[in-house]
Amino acid sequence: MTTTRIDSLRGPPAESGGSTTMRAIAQDTYGPAPEDVLRLTEVDRPAVGEHDVLVCVRAASVDRGTWHVMAGLPYPIRLAGFGLRRPKYLNPGRNLAGTVEAVGAGVTDFRPADEVFGMATGTFAEYAVADPAKLALKPANLSFEGAAAVPVSGVTALQAVRRGRIQAGEKVLVTGASGGVGSFAVQIAKASGAEVTGVCSAAKADMVRSLGADHVLDYDREDFAEGGTRYDVILDIGGNAPLSRLRRALTPRGRLIITGGETDGRLLGGSDRQIRASVLSLFIRQKLGTFVASENAADLVVLRGLIEDGSVTPAIDRTYPLDQTDAAIRHLLDGRARGKIVVSVSPASPPSASGSTR
Ligand SMILES: NC(=O)c1ccc[n+]([C@@H]2O[C@H](COP(=O)([O-])OP(=O)(O)OC[C@H]3O[C@@H](n4cnc5c(N)ncnc54)[C@H](OP(=O)(O)O)[C@@H]3O)[C@@H](O)[C@H]2O)c1
Repeated sequence: MTTTRIDSLRGPPAESGGSTTMRAIAQDTYGPAPEDVLRLTEVDRPAVGEHDVLVCVRAASVDRGTWHVMAGLPYPIRLAGFGLRRPKYLNPGRNLAGTVEAVGAGVTDFRPADEVFGMATGTFAEYAVADPAKLALKPANLSFEGAAAVPVSGVTALQAVRRGRIQAGEKVLVTGASGGVGSFAVQIAKASGAEVTGVCSAAKADMVRSLGADHVLDYDREDFAEGGTRYDVILDIGGNAPLSRLRRALTPRGRLIITGGETDGRLLGGSDRQIRASVLSLFIRQKLGTFVASENAADLVVLRGLIEDGSVTPAIDRTYPLDQTDAAIRHLLDGRARGKIVVSVSPASPPSASGSTR
């Protein structure tokens, strides 16, 4: 990745500290290949507004949403505020962990030097501006890298489990169990007392078992709808199974929570399946639903509790340095990731594989 200097990319320089610039990933055009559209550069630090928190980013992380925001696909994502013709934000990073550098006059919940984690925009950078409503104090037992893995994937998984109204003893199927959202969903469903079956590729079965799954199905060899088991809840996170198959695997009053599933569709990106599920649900006894995750501090606090009491541990596959953010996203796109991929924003270091997150 090349380094270039561009001036005044976003807003005036921050007034605190000596240097007023920072290293950051920048993106000027939408595109599906991270190596083509992302570059490391030196830009002015963002300014902190009255209701903002300026975070010195120590680590960020990658998820499917990172790719969607980077590629501008499916197209509706551009209408969701990310820029119609070109990216609105400095880069597609959406997760962070770091220390508070400065707070606006209207911010009362955070102070400089607080260690925080949460969601923001442009987080593949040394500094990012965050909305305090999307930040929480970092779990005490996690490194910055571990905490950066949590926000979007963890909050999505928590909300999926909550929407499934999972009760202790229920049978829960999690598709996409080896991915970012799925690795949290398996652990949170287990913490709710469910009997969890994870669906993933054979190569990642051990990893899903290590998250606590009671059973693991290899999607290339076993059809979750064909065995004798019927599930009370299905958290459908990966694989895009047809609704008919998902319904066959549910109990007569089972609940299906469609959370994700990648397609090549540039226009709808699989949301047609979600719309059909919501309409069909009106006419049958099974409950079929979907949702868009709400990014909020209250759920970060719930996750912090689950992490600090040992119920949930982020599964981190690999950590890349900031100047290899493109390689981090490529690792996800190649389907090699086991759990989460982190981008370390400390001074440059080589990529490292790690199973440990604390
Ligand atoms: N609703 C929301 O608000 C919301 C929020 C965040 C994310 N999402 C969506 O949730 C989905 C997952 O995101 P993520 O970040 O967790 O992605 P990810 O890390 O790439 O995980 C996706 C997982 O899907 C698995 N998979 C692929 N084919 C499968 C199949 N046939 N059956 C079962 N699993 C299969 C992959 O498993 P293997 O690697 O083992 O093949 C992979 O681990 C994405 O579609 C994302 O857009 C939705």
